[in-house]
Amino acid sequence: MSTRPRMPGPSTPAPGKLALPGLGEMKRRGDKISMLTAYDAPAALLADEAGAELLLVGDSAAMVMLGHESTLPVTLDEMIFLTRAVTRAARRPLVIADLPFGTYEVSDEQAVTSAIRLIKEGGADTVKLEGAGRMVSRVRAIAESNIGVMGHIGLTPQSATKLGGFRAQGRTAEVALRLYDDALALQDAGCFALVLEAVPAPIAARITDALEIPTIGIGAGAGCDGQVLVWHDLLGMYAGPTPRFVKQYASLADEIGQALDAYVADVRNGTFPEEQHTYSIPEAELERFESALAARG
Ligand code: KIV
Repeated sequence: MSTRPRMPGPSTPAPGKLALPGLGEMKRRGDKISMLTAYDAPAALLADEAGAELLLVGDSAAMVMLGHESTLPVTLDEMIFLTRAVTRAARRPLVIADLPFGTYEVSDEQAVTSAIRLIKEGGADTVKLEGAGRMVSRVRAIAESNIGVMGHIGLTPQSATKLGGFRAQGRTAEVALRLYDDALALQDAGCFALVLEAVPAPIAARITDALEIPTIGIGAGAGCDGQVLVWHDLLGMYAGPTPRFVKQYASLADEIGQALDAYVADVRNGTFPEEQHTYSIPEAELERFESALAARG
């Protein structure tokens, strides 16, 4: 028998890394799952230290990081770049990378190819995609390629135009039933978890009860198995309008703004830098330097 140590692979997570089946166990135990977005290494490190189980490199990056007005323009290359930064720093949380719009809709093959790039080049542990219907087949193809895939239904920002804007979904019995059936179909196709966004709390709770996989809610009430918030919303760092489901835990934009005002004022009036922010040089070296300059004429 070989005594060589096994290399970490899809079935052997890196030491300290939360194992994917651990999420299902959390649901069965009734332990809530905390997830938040992260788009860079410092954020990943802080979220890891806070004990979050899941980090999502969301395509919300298009809006909160890259200044676009929707999530649609972010590219796969940009998502890989951001994912790489997050996976360099995240130790315990599972990192989920969003498949951006246009990188999985065309065919199962396109979806698997894009997912492989997020895993191989970005270092993501798993991927997420939006929608059901034809997307169920994409989920199955990715899951059958041994890549963990998270679903996302309800308000799916990539199809906001078709949905009539950023609005709650499932507020009629017909649409709620469709969401319920979509959730079951995505579970059957191999999703390891499901994001429910902007879905009435009783509907989200009913879906959560019907599924074996965990649901992660955003604007879907406390009956979900876990919750997710966008980094910039949670920390008060985004200047744009925020949805009603956001709980802001800090007002960092205000704090950062005050710090920057103070810095600019200090630079302008010469109160920064002070002595303690500068480096000294031995007197003798300074004299030699001055003499050398003087000798140049
Ligand atoms: O892109 C994102 O940040 C998301 C969350 C809102 C779930 O999909």
